Amino acid sequence: MKKILIINGPNLNLLGVREKSIYGDQDFKSYFETLKQRFPELDLNYFQSNSEGAIIDKIHEVGFDIDGIVLNAGAYTHTSVAIGDAIAAVKTAVIEVHISNVYAREEFRHKSYLAKNCKGVICGFGLDGYRLAIEGLI
Ligand code: DQA
Repeated sequence: MKKILIINGPNLNLLGVREKSIYGDQDFKSYFETLKQRFPELDLNYFQSNSEGAIIDKIHEVGFDIDGIVLNAGAYTHTSVAIGDAIAAVKTAVIEVHISNVYAREEFRHKSYLAKNCKGVICGFGLDGYRLAIEGLI
C-alpha cells in the first residue's frame, strides 16, 4: 500500500473559517475524509502545524520512508529557506499545493522557496488541488 502524507502549514487549521472568499467554506478534516474514501488503495495521512520547525521535523521523519508528500506550507512557502532545504534533503517526492492562485494575489506570494525542490506545484484549484497532487504522485 502506497503511503502519502498531506502536510498543511500555518493557518490552514482554520480552513472553513478563515477568509472564506479565498479559501472556501469547507474545513480540512471533512475534506480529508472524502479524500480517504476516494483513494481507498492508499495509506493516506494528514499532519498540520503552525510551526516551521514542526513541519521540518515531520518532513525529516517521513521523508526517507513514504511514497509522497503533499505540502501546503501556507505563508512559509514565501519565506522559508529552511523548509526548502528540508525538501531537498529527503528522498520522498514532494508536491507543493496552494488552494488559491498565488500568482493572482500579492507579489510577495509569487515567490516560493520550496518549488525548486519539489516534483511539481499545483495552485488555484481550491481544495481539489490536494486530489490533483495525489493523482500526480500515484
Ligand atoms: C496558501 C497561499 C499562501 O500565500 C497563504 O499564506 C496561505 C495559503 C494557499 O493555499 O492558497 O496560508 O498556501
